[in-house]
Amino acid sequence: MFKDESTRKKIVDLLTKSYNAEIETVANYIANSVNLDGVRAQHIKAALESDISEELEHAQRLARRIKTIDGVVPGSQALQWTQTSLQPPKQTTDVVSVIKGVIAAEEEAIEGYQAIIEATEGVDYVTQDLAIELQGDEQEHRREFIGFLKEYEQVNG
Ligand SMILES: [Fe+2]
Ligand SMILES: [Fe+2]
Repeated sequence: MFKDESTRKKIVDLLTKSYNAEIETVANYIANSVNLDGVRAQHIKAALESDISEELEHAQRLARRIKTIDGVVPGSQALQWTQTSLQPPKQTTDVVSVIKGVIAAEEEAIEGYQAIIEATEGVDYVTQDLAIELQGDEQEHRREFIGFLKEYEQVNG
């Protein structure tokens, strides 16, 4: 299926990196969808809550693809936690910082899928197809939260 082992391993590594990011996103979306307070937070909390199952499904689809191309899905102790911008804010009414954190996380996810799309070109179209679909989902999430940011910054300004 792959012309050499290093190509296969590179794709497994990229899939694993995106898998790790999706799992971390799930954890942080749960936390932020619960922690925020106030009337202005309600819509953001609901939007995050409804995205959790979609991000979880992304993680599951990546995991299945890792297995299919003979990789091993890592357990929790092999994962890394890097989403600094999505950590719940100290001020629980700070909706704007959560919105900005979500946009940053979605942009990172988009970049991760871009790396997979490029690495699989001419090599593994099934993985590429998956990455294209997930990248499209993240672009929609990003755009939704860009819209929220516009509105919330207008209210503040
Ligand atoms: Fe995702
Ligand atoms: Fe997303």
